Amino acid sequence: MDNQLIVELRDVVIEQSGISVLRNINFNLAQAESVYLIGKSGSGKSSLLKALYGEAIVTEGQARVFEYDLRKLKRTKVPDLRRKMGMVFQDFQLFKHWTVANNLSFVLTATDWRDKTLIKQRVEEVLTEVGLIKYFNQKVFQLSGGEQQRLAIARSILNRPALIIADEPTGNLDPDTSDEILYLLNKVSRDHKTAVIFATHDYRIIDKFPARVFRCSEHTVAEVE
Ligand SMILES: Nc1ncnc2c1ncn2[C@@H]1O[C@H](COP(=O)(O)OP(=O)(O)OP(=O)(O)O)[C@@H](O)[C@H]1O
Ligand SMILES: [Mg+2]
Repeated sequence: MDNQLIVELRDVVIEQSGISVLRNINFNLAQAESVYLIGKSGSGKSSLLKALYGEAIVTEGQARVFEYDLRKLKRTKVPDLRRKMGMVFQDFQLFKHWTVANNLSFVLTATDWRDKTLIKQRVEEVLTEVGLIKYFNQKVFQLSGGEQQRLAIARSILNRPALIIADEPTGNLDPDTSDEILYLLNKVSRDHKTAVIFATHDYRIIDKFPARVFRCSEHTVAEVE
């Protein structure tokens, strides 16, 4: 086992609802490394990410994320695994009728933060980091799409994860706003040495910040040389 690697997949098969959707996957990710995951719609990007956060099943090969062996992962351990990663999705998955601050404090309370002062302090820190502190008491539906995605990124870093999984985080945004989100994720990654897996079908994105690229196609995942 290579301790510098936070994700190691060897000859892995991934199933969704009993159907094998990806096979022969060899993929690894080092601490603080960012990689892109590209591929057409339906090629399996989300399936790979779901396997990493314990939503899709690994049926063959060796698969490790942090210290968790995905083939031996019990359902009861999935929340522990997810607590170590930040997740950002295309559709933000925020509580739109709650305030910006409540969307964040809720997560801290749910992950066993108890001290109200510390909770407020951490919420202010992450909102400042993503440039949304002025919206502390605003309702989420009053924010633009780009601002909502910034909030989702703030939420993803609350517990200082070692890995952020971003599944088409710019899929609903215009090109300029997409670039802002890309820059923000890159800044977060550099400032906190957080690894990022960034799935996108927008090939334009990958020229902005060079990183290793993996492509999903023909039911497998391969590094693009
Ligand atoms: N829950 C599921 N049960 C069965 N098959 C699934 C399930 N989810 C996805 N699939 C299948 O797995 C394959 C890969 O889908 P996936 O969502 O991983 O692709 P994707 O690359 O993320 O696509 P998109 O760019 O549209 O998000 C598709 O053939 C899809 O139909
Ligand atoms: Mg997808």
